[in-house]
Amino acid sequence: MSKKVRIAVLVSGGGTNLRALIDAQNSGIIKSGEIVLVISSKAGAYALRRAEAAGIATAVCEKGGRQQSLFEQDILSELKSADAELIILAGFMNILSADFVKHYPDRIINVHPSLIPSFCGSGFYGLRVHKAALEYGVKVTGATVHFVNEIPDGGRIIMQKAVEVDPEDTPETLQRRVMENAEWIILPAAAEAVCKEIGENK
Ligand code: GAR
Repeated sequence: MSKKVRIAVLVSGGGTNLRALIDAQNSGIIKSGEIVLVISSKAGAYALRRAEAAGIATAVCEKGGRQQSLFEQDILSELKSADAELIILAGFMNILSADFVKHYPDRIINVHPSLIPSFCGSGFYGLRVHKAALEYGVKVTGATVHFVNEIPDGGRIIMQKAVEVDPEDTPETLQRRVMENAEWIILPAAAEAVCKEIGENK
């Protein structure tokens, strides 16, 4: 069997999607890849504690007041030292530039909490996505895993899963249902599918 694809996960916050990836690795849903590094754009992110508890190497790359290119150079150097082959954005709240993504064509995937092309692109992240969906009055929303290219949330779609909106939903209750019923399922499934493909073409 070929060697497992080396995965780096980029996070910024609570890291429930990271937890879903770690659980999937432990249960064998992810078998063609291995998480070797977690990079957080926030020093205090709880996601870092989850990674440490799972014995995964961590790094912090904060943007601070710096230029985007310097921030991205830090991330690139961490990815290169870890020999990362697939990058998973799991609640990573920074948009990566075209210059960055060209280093990893078809090797960066992202989970977004809506059915793209609805409620996506710059300005749509986290709870804002669910707030916008409720304000619009959609009856069905969901989550999407897609490749990352130079257009925010614009890369090729890998997997989507729909979730019904409840008339009583708040952004918080909707966010929770989309995570439980869509994100935590399709992100590990898409990660395995992409790792398998990378592994077969190595
Ligand atoms: C998730 O809902 C994820 O889809 C979203 O932020 C949340 C992070 O939660 N990401 C975006 O909005 C990116 N555009 P987590 O830190 O618990 O995984």
